[in-house]
Amino acid sequence: MGADAIRPKESANRADVSGTHHAAEFFAGVGLVGDALRAEGISVAWANDIDPVKERLFKANHDPQVFRRDDIRNVKGRQIPDIDLATASFPCTDVSLAGNRAGLAGEQSGMFWELTRVLEEMDGVAPRVILLENVVGFSSSNGGEDLRSAFERLNHLGYTCDLVLVDAKWFVPQSRPRLFIVGSLDPLNGEAASLLTKSAMRPAWYSEFVGRHPELRTQTFALTPPHLDVGGLDAIVERLPFSDECWWGEDRTRAFLNSLSEINRDRLACLTAYDEVTWRTAYRRTRQGRPVWEIRRDAVSGCLRTARGGSSKQAVVEAGAGGVRIRWMTAREYARLQGAPDFDLGGVSETQAMFGFGDAVCVPAVRWLVANYVRPLLERRMPERYESCQAPGTVSTSSTTTTKSRSTWARPTNA
Ligand SMILES: C[S@@+](CC[C@H](N)C(=O)[O-])C[C@H]1O[C@@H](n2cnc3c(N)ncnc32)[C@H](O)[C@@H]1O
Repeated sequence: MGADAIRPKESANRADVSGTHHAAEFFAGVGLVGDALRAEGISVAWANDIDPVKERLFKANHDPQVFRRDDIRNVKGRQIPDIDLATASFPCTDVSLAGNRAGLAGEQSGMFWELTRVLEEMDGVAPRVILLENVVGFSSSNGGEDLRSAFERLNHLGYTCDLVLVDAKWFVPQSRPRLFIVGSLDPLNGEAASLLTKSAMRPAWYSEFVGRHPELRTQTFALTPPHLDVGGLDAIVERLPFSDECWWGEDRTRAFLNSLSEINRDRLACLTAYDEVTWRTAYRRTRQGRPVWEIRRDAVSGCLRTARGGSSKQAVVEAGAGGVRIRWMTAREYARLQGAPDFDLGGVSETQAMFGFGDAVCVPAVRWLVANYVRPLLERRMPERYESCQAPGTVSTSSTTTTKSRSTWARPTNA
């Protein structure tokens, strides 16, 4: 099916009388993409996930009526209500560097194809804008072939694609770089072609990717990473009393300390010598067949992961005034690091909550992208400043390229 076949009539704006846009949240998990959307005035009309624990957490925190627990393979396009935005954090298991790298042919990440099947079935009423999220490893999965085929498929459905890297650490003290594909049935005007500018949001590999694939319909909207005063872990750690049973006992603490390399030992000694208490996170790794703990240098948490195995869990190290205490990170701290500090965690175990949050998105990071890109796309109020993709070697170092477009919106030509 070609792009014209799927594009809604005149690419209709489906905002209701109050001006509210409506979204479907695919692979909704605990529903943090929806939190970001609602914060920007976009309502979630339908959400889907297969996992019963995530369903429980979703329903405890969001409108339970919109959630449908099912395998996406059972979802039909005609079951999706009127929406103008679809979001999808499709599974990263097969594209992540820590996974099996089966890519989009894998059983989990291959659910991307199911998502596009549903969009295709929404023939004529497909959402005008899509927002997909995955790990950075997606860009190199199968040597870039997976990203290429994903763009090709989305192009075929009528979407012109952009790719943006957003790191949660620009918003909260958690290192969590993620790729976002923003697709639009109404592409930005190619006439306003200027240059793909390198930035933290558009790494060099992306301009190379675009240059290697002139057959793909891509667009690049000028975005500048935010510079916010995020603060460190002290803003998110729970102040647990000395008597709390979560603090590790003597044996476990000693095993932690004994596993440290010289660098890590020196790092901890410096922190312990401070008069004031500070916090660091630590991950367990295996080095030369032996489990060791590594303490982060900065006051930022490592990327939260699903708490399936011990190595995915982070420890919180509290040091200062001559003392050290260690414990596992709590589910509440997971929620805070994902920008959902007040999330109701009741009804599931601590491990289940951590499993849900390890997989989730960081709310303020998604909200920023929605406010600065997705919502303006939905409302067709992009500023008259564009960048469009060009081959490598022509990458501009200027971030101020300005081109006035005669017409804001253009039609795709190579669908
Ligand atoms: C990366 S997580 C998305 C997390 C979500 N954005 C959040 O904020 O919690 C991917 C989700 O896809 C779901 N999933 C995996 N396979 C699925 C399938 N076949 N059908 C529906 N959902 C599926 C998982 O349960 C998981 O919640």
